[in-house]
Amino acid sequence: MAMNKKMQNKLNAQINAELYAAYLYLSMSVHFKEKNLNGFAAWMRKQASEEREHAMKILDYLHERGASVELKPIKSPMQQWTTPLKIFQEVLKHECHVTKLINDLADLADKEHDRATGVFLQWFIEEQVEEEASASEVVEKLKMIKDSTAGILMMDREMGRSASEQS
Ligand code: FEO
Repeated sequence: MAMNKKMQNKLNAQINAELYAAYLYLSMSVHFKEKNLNGFAAWMRKQASEEREHAMKILDYLHERGASVELKPIKSPMQQWTTPLKIFQEVLKHECHVTKLINDLADLADKEHDRATGVFLQWFIEEQVEEEASASEVVEKLKMIKDSTAGILMMDREMGRSASEQS
């Protein structure tokens, strides 16, 4: 069954949102690298590549359904932040925004009785729970650390370890 045009457009917009997230996290990775916080930089770079994979999953799904793929321009992300806490608060905010976009997609799939897309989106719904939880955990730890340099350096090592374990 051909995919409804509105659903196609929204899934294409989601490809763009995921690629923007990849770009934003890559920008954060560059920022951390410039501050010599290589563990945070590695973690962000890993996140950026996961976001790119999310975009590819949607792109492959559109192909599978015989729908058209439209690659729109990706806006430029912010490049400077004041503290690691500010960065992770932005990551959490961004993940909550992505969750809302995914939920809206799932609502549209229900409304259009597009069962296949509903099932496809299930993976993203679960992934968002994990992504929000991991960003939130880092925010809470950074709040505890406050502006302790020793704390930030310890956390940097932990983030670096976590990035290499995931890969
Ligand atoms: Fe693909 Fe982090 O949302």
